Amino acid sequence: MCGIVAVTARREVSEILLEGLRRLEYRGYDSSGMALIDNEKRLLLHKQLGKVAELEKAQAMSPHYGCVGIAHTRWATHGKPSAANAHPHTSSDRIALVHNGIIENHASLRKQLAEQGYVFYSQTDTEVIVHLLHSKLEQGLSLSDALRETVAQLEGAYALAAVDKESPDEVVAARAGSPLVVGVGIGENFLASDQLALRQVTDRFIFLEEGDLVRMTAMTLEIWDQSGNVVERPRRDVAEAVESVDLGQFEHYMLKEIYEQPKALADTFKIADETELSDERFGAEAAAVFDQVKSVQIVACGTSFHAGLVARYWLEELAGIPCEVEVASEFRYRKRAPQPGTLLVTVSQSGETADSLAALRGQKDGEFIASLVIANVDHSSLVRESDLVFLTRAGAEVGVASTKAFTTQLVAFLMLTLLLGRRHGMSEQDQDKITDALHALPSHVEQTLALDASIKKLSEHFIQKQHALFLGRGIQYPIAMEGALKLKEISYIHAEAYPAGELKHGPLALVDADMPVVAVAPGDELLEKLKSNLEEVRSRGGELYVFADKKAGFVDEPLLHVLQMPSCPEMLKPVIYTVALQLLAYHVAVQKGTDVDKPRNLAKSVTVE
Ligand code: AGP
Repeated sequence: MCGIVAVTARREVSEILLEGLRRLEYRGYDSSGMALIDNEKRLLLHKQLGKVAELEKAQAMSPHYGCVGIAHTRWATHGKPSAANAHPHTSSDRIALVHNGIIENHASLRKQLAEQGYVFYSQTDTEVIVHLLHSKLEQGLSLSDALRETVAQLEGAYALAAVDKESPDEVVAARAGSPLVVGVGIGENFLASDQLALRQVTDRFIFLEEGDLVRMTAMTLEIWDQSGNVVERPRRDVAEAVESVDLGQFEHYMLKEIYEQPKALADTFKIADETELSDERFGAEAAAVFDQVKSVQIVACGTSFHAGLVARYWLEELAGIPCEVEVASEFRYRKRAPQPGTLLVTVSQSGETADSLAALRGQKDGEFIASLVIANVDHSSLVRESDLVFLTRAGAEVGVASTKAFTTQLVAFLMLTLLLGRRHGMSEQDQDKITDALHALPSHVEQTLALDASIKKLSEHFIQKQHALFLGRGIQYPIAMEGALKLKEISYIHAEAYPAGELKHGPLALVDADMPVVAVAPGDELLEKLKSNLEEVRSRGGELYVFADKKAGFVDEPLLHVLQMPSCPEMLKPVIYTVALQLLAYHVAVQKGTDVDKPRNLAKSVTVE
């Protein structure tokens, strides 16, 4: 989604804003802009269609300098991507404002403001906010009071920041439903949608709460809560080293992140010298909560939802715990009837996904015994609002296509399976099997990465295709879904996944020479059934690409291309087959020439409904 950066300092800040935008570009990237107030109290604006690089060019051609500024990278919701719809939006050449979120009552506000004589230059919902703010300033209110009155009239979700050339030292900001963090500097203050944007200038952060309003100058910082009381929010010093956003030897972040998986998986499983898997990894209260868990409800979106689907097999088969999994955008609007003793588990790389957050916030009193989030971003909204937290240690994931975040979520779920399984009669032997498998996982992933060149070769068959089918059975069905999602989101090839047994109930009609069929075929107990399903494809002229364990016994034949996967413990197969499918999608996309790390129309962090 959109990304916000704001600075008020005693030094020139245009480069801080641009660097912040570069670091936020993963959130959205159809256009960008920045507004600065210069020493002569002029409001200076650049807005460009396209990536942040376009804004950099505009700044290089016609530099704007100032000590106070706001900047934005946009992911269009209302109004097509264009320079006019890019933020900041301005009112009367006096105020500039940036916004992340959606204002639901924008149409009625627009009508009222137009009647008052305000002229609209964009199709965005955001432009109503800046004119509304201006109308409040016209009543003689201070900038922060005007913002308070403005947000009181807004319905929907927002994180926003504004500057006014009549108050040239200040930035004001507010949040409700979209993330915003204050970066505390020495003699300067910052704001951003994600602390990652500010790590080059500070490691001290204040994570704003819902309804907070902020006024900051270079030397002062005031925060009010939603009732208008002055509040002190805790400051957190982020100790970890600044995450490298360098590509290093890699051509794309996605590839770098695929290759980072052995380390990310090891880091997620094992911290320092810890050898014993303990409840505390999920929080101080985890042991007491886990003792009461009788069933699990998992809620997530996209790739994180697929991790939940895999987890259901583990929780039910290995731990004997009933488990339901649902996409958050459906779950949140449904009347539910969970069993007593159900643990609500949200899964989210970013910890900010609007639907997952709404699902957590929407739980009824007593509906669940507690909430647990599995997230990759510390201090994110889901992390702050859940009872229990498991932080995956994937490191920053920049590529829009989630890779290492997904596989580390699977590690988290295997650990949860073991901890809950212990309480539901899982044998010591089975517990040891899980622990041993987790220890061995990084090396199995290394072996899978060694197949990169062969997978690249296979990928050449897909470049000219418009569609692809992915098949799996059992626990590999969600892996087929994840493989199809990866392929469609970065290569724009239409890809769908089916449980292989469903083929003859409809999708078989699609199979012909132009429909590659990818099958995930570890040599498990469903292998013979899967083989029959694959024969159904071949006998109709369909070309098969089978990712298979050696013991599955597949060999290359006409219309059958086999990629032999390394052998590994059964429970690790979902992880290693995922890695292979990530590489397949990556190489297809690269050869098609798409923007692998920033696929069209998508954003990394989906903070609107
Ligand atoms: C995956 O490649 C996607 N980009 C997307 O499906 C993502 O997993 C989804 O938007 C959920 O995000 P989250 O994990 O940050 O909640």
